[in-house]
Amino acid sequence: MCEGKKIILGITGGIAAYKSAELTREFVKKGAQVTVIMTKNATKFITPLTLQTLSGNPVYTDTFSLTGEWEIGHISMAEAADIIVIAPATANIIGKIASGIADDLLSTTVMATRAPVLICPAMNTNMYANIIVRANCEKLASIGYYIMDADYGELACKTEGAGRLPPLDDIAEEVASILTEKDLAGENVLITAGPTREPFDPIRFISNYSSGKMGYAFAVMAKRRGADVTLITGPTVLPVPSGVKVHEVTTAVSMRDEVMKHFKESTIIIKVAAVADYRPAVLSDSKIKKDDGPFNITLERNPDIIAEIGKIKGDRILVGFAMETEDLLKNAYDKLLAKNMDLIVANDLSRPGSGFQYDTNSVRVIDRSGTVRKLPLMTKTKIADRVLDRIKKLRKDSKETGVV
Ligand code: CTP
Repeated sequence: MCEGKKIILGITGGIAAYKSAELTREFVKKGAQVTVIMTKNATKFITPLTLQTLSGNPVYTDTFSLTGEWEIGHISMAEAADIIVIAPATANIIGKIASGIADDLLSTTVMATRAPVLICPAMNTNMYANIIVRANCEKLASIGYYIMDADYGELACKTEGAGRLPPLDDIAEEVASILTEKDLAGENVLITAGPTREPFDPIRFISNYSSGKMGYAFAVMAKRRGADVTLITGPTVLPVPSGVKVHEVTTAVSMRDEVMKHFKESTIIIKVAAVADYRPAVLSDSKIKKDDGPFNITLERNPDIIAEIGKIKGDRILVGFAMETEDLLKNAYDKLLAKNMDLIVANDLSRPGSGFQYDTNSVRVIDRSGTVRKLPLMTKTKIADRVLDRIKKLRKDSKETGVV
């Protein structure tokens, strides 16, 4: 999303200015061209040299030290930017922008741009709560500026409260989201992710190796593209994606119940979860103690969630996953037909770098006509984006023909 994008990072004078070095790295790592503008006070907290080294570009600090050529240069920089991010943003810069004051390079650049501006506040908690700062933030939000909420926690002044710079991952995600076309706006996307756990006593369960990474990637990308996203997830160690409604479940039965709760309002359902097909028939109340003989567990069938949905899906788009170790295409296509899916993403577990735990995957996407599209090894985020492209195409075709 950030690849090739021109980001102006404005840094103002607060203790969180040191974090903007990491943010610069993050943007550069994602392929963005970063130009840093620092206010005079920001240079007291972190040196321009650090930002210049990390961004690989000159750092601009003050309009009055610029030659005539650069005076014009910063206007064209403001015009060429895809986004301006101010992190950290002090009460002062927020107040200046809200009042239309342009008295230094950063405030002048903000005034001269037509690009979206993302403001990431960081300040003392009383300042952040101050009614004037609140009013300024509300004013800016109401006229189209993007303003993140400051984070809650311990502040440099040793008080606790709201005022910390939002987490850098959240800032990076917000930037990616702002730069992404909202082509899934109006869709309610229901996603399942992760493994299920099927317990047989209070401390043991049967499960699988699913990490949840593929399902979470769908949630992040669908949200970026403007969809309203509900994520129903089995146990994972992944951070909750911002802006996504998350419901945690453990067993296949609890996952089915949660899916059914949200089924009605959904328009697209993507079932990435690795649902256990069987559960122990008996759940012991107390820990099962060992003895010398073998130990047997009788298993019984779990509900097949996607098959249930397939029967009642109406004009919702239903996407499933198939994990196979042999006969990938045939098995996957049979599953698509048997469970009335619109698309199935077939995952060949025998390919290196594919499947559970990895950050990458290589899949085939099969539609109802049997057409197979092969996606080479790529990150799960990119796979999710490409599959969402296919879903969007199906939606467009169904609107034109009236058939899903
Ligand atoms: N699935 C589901 N409920 C289950 C099992 C699977 O909703 N009880 C969904 C998965 O989320 C996935 C699709 O069905 O989208 C295919 O899952 P997979 O385990 O590959 O296939 P199964 O249908 O369970 O068939 P088999 O295990 O026999 O290969």
